[in-house]
Amino acid sequence: EKGGYEHFMLKEIYEQPSAIVDTYRGRMLVDKGMVRMAGMDDNIERFVNAKRILIVACGTSWHAGLVAEYIFEDFARVPVEVEYASEFRYRNPIIDENDVVIAISQSGETADTMAAIKLAKSKGAFVFGVCNVVGSSISRETHAGAYTHAGPEIGVASTKAFTTQITVLSLMALKLAKAKGNMSNTDFHYHLQELDLIPGKIKKALEANEHIKEVAKKYMNAANFLYLGRGFNFPVALEGALKLKEISYIHAEGYPAAEMKHGPIALIDENMPVVVIATKKGHYEKVVSNIQEIKSREARIIGIVTEGDTDVRSMSDYVIEVPDTVEAFTPLLTTIPLQLLSYHIAVMLGKNVDQPRNLAKSVTVE
Ligand code: M6R
Repeated sequence: EKGGYEHFMLKEIYEQPSAIVDTYRGRMLVDKGMVRMAGMDDNIERFVNAKRILIVACGTSWHAGLVAEYIFEDFARVPVEVEYASEFRYRNPIIDENDVVIAISQSGETADTMAAIKLAKSKGAFVFGVCNVVGSSISRETHAGAYTHAGPEIGVASTKAFTTQITVLSLMALKLAKAKGNMSNTDFHYHLQELDLIPGKIKKALEANEHIKEVAKKYMNAANFLYLGRGFNFPVALEGALKLKEISYIHAEGYPAAEMKHGPIALIDENMPVVVIATKKGHYEKVVSNIQEIKSREARIIGIVTEGDTDVRSMSDYVIEVPDTVEAFTPLLTTIPLQLLSYHIAVMLGKNVDQPRNLAKSVTVE
């Protein structure tokens, strides 16, 4: 049932290229230059007229929501807020019928996310679900939705659910951008083509596995890790840190790279591995100068870079390459080495990768 893999988590990491194809199949019509998604098509006015989009979720799904915030605002020019469902539900939020709420949940059973949905509905908001488990409670409670079609995710650490959530949310953002006239046809088309190339590029990123094992071996005994990213890859830094924490029990934190100098840089010494997502896009130059800042404090740098990068390589102890793509889709690639890194560290430390202590696959109590 693990298909020859040692753990479900590894199997699910390797399933990502085909899972993403399953997510966009029948929805992304590259030749016709359109995105078809029944749950959105049937309610397109609600989306087009939304004054704001509010995303509620927990854990890794919340990280997918943060990536979506960058994508929706960039493509569709609609204000987006991302909330922890557990905070949203108890803080008397300002929300009304002009809001579209997107609830993201792999299991579709998370208690806090469910409660947030009920609250949003009671205020008149339109609630759209992005779930993986077909027929789950959240998929039934929402007004409309889109399944991720990632297939069963057994490992407690979420992997393919995350990248397929980002895929669905990217399709939604593209569709909304088009419906609102915020993106030229050329640009829209170009993004569809780029998304279509992502599964092949993930395969390529997975080829770094043996090299990532070496990196894991080198740093498996570290007491702490830092993960840094900016822009679309800031949430990926948070996700990388969460993956390491939950399966290896190593303390890790994710930070926006530029926040380092506001406090956390004090933590840095030669024993601190810092994973920096530094793809050659958007904030590249800024990230390079952030790396210089921490390098001068002796940190060990593990750079996640675009193929062929030389600048970050020259400053890093290790680099892990991912293929190039448009900035908005880089999280789909930069996530892959971070999943593998935490997986190998946990295995080398002898931890129970698929069922880490204290954790359950779905959190049905608040
Ligand atoms: O099923 P959900 O997506 O609603 O679950 C949310 C979180 O409990 C979940 O993502 C959790 O953080 C994972 N263990 C992360 O790997």
